Amino acid sequence: MELKTNLKKIAKSKLSDVDFDNLPFGRVFSDHMLVMTYENGQWDEGIIQPYEALSITPAMMTLHYGQAIFEGMKANKDADGNVLMFRPELNVRRFNKSAERMCMPTVPEDVFLEKLQELLYLDSDWIPRDEGAALYIRPFMFGSDPYIGVKPSKTFHFIIFTCPVGPYYANPVSVYVEDHYVRAVDGGTGFTKAAGNYGGALYPAKLAQEKGYDQVLWTDANEHKYVQEIGTMNVFFVIDDVVITPDLNDCILPGTTRQSVIELFKDQGVKVEERPLSIDEIFEAHKNGKLQDCFGSGTAAAIIPIKSLGTNTEKIELPPVEERTYSKQMKERLIGMKLGKVEDKFNWVRKIAIPQAAGENTSDS
Ligand code: COI
Repeated sequence: MELKTNLKKIAKSKLSDVDFDNLPFGRVFSDHMLVMTYENGQWDEGIIQPYEALSITPAMMTLHYGQAIFEGMKANKDADGNVLMFRPELNVRRFNKSAERMCMPTVPEDVFLEKLQELLYLDSDWIPRDEGAALYIRPFMFGSDPYIGVKPSKTFHFIIFTCPVGPYYANPVSVYVEDHYVRAVDGGTGFTKAAGNYGGALYPAKLAQEKGYDQVLWTDANEHKYVQEIGTMNVFFVIDDVVITPDLNDCILPGTTRQSVIELFKDQGVKVEERPLSIDEIFEAHKNGKLQDCFGSGTAAAIIPIKSLGTNTEKIELPPVEERTYSKQMKERLIGMKLGKVEDKFNWVRKIAIPQAAGENTSDS
């Protein structure tokens, strides 16, 4: 494969420093990153260069007005060493929806995927082989004008870097049902991966952690009655053998994993409902012994069981994880597909072209 993007290769790979048996999440960064710049109404060719610190001006608009978005994707290897990605086009489309909402330029889908493929080609040795591990891919964009005044930036940087990761959550999580703070409102940016959505959630998450919970389960801003999503993932409940997840609106991130879970359950003949779901209905179902499962879904988190749900007056424990057939089977099916071990009947898995001898067309810096 010939790299089309300009390349400045790292002088010495950091790969041998990495302990692939003990990978944390998000702390180890692969050798290279892609950097593209938007100026005068167009994207440049971009460069793949060593992963390193950026030089920024203190007046850079994003630091002041938060014009920043990101995505999360993963790459794995199958038993033959092929590099696989799971429905990457859905993340690219969501990235561009986030960009539109935040007054930022979109990145053409084919350019995005081609550049990503080149980056994976170059750093394919960084893709972990262990089940539960993956190469996490972090595309992001920010406005880079040096300017004080609230308006959209005219210049932008689009960057993709990658990191080999272990599981985001090592254990099932407990969630606090938020009844005061809000993450998203009708007409807001909750359906995007705008950086500010996460910044604003830090304080409520910290308070929930002080109460002994791992995460916040967001509820609607008007009544705090209907569930929306968990801080780092979408949420599913199984009540009386029906899988229920909040329907998409301005406040809910349209997760690739969420979408896949819905489609796979339907394929298995399970009844799935996307609809408003109230906390009262969930607690009532628990009282009646009908709450069989609850789990979060996301690229980083994969499928993670929720072990308990608490409000400011009540806490319920969910059935033991070993007894939860829905989340367990879905996790196995999804992970199996991503590793090329389970049939991919919907053709969601993309094989990324990685020749054996990476780098033969490159010039060292
Ligand atoms: C992802 O699931 O990839 C995300 O971006 C969530 C993030 C909060 C880690």
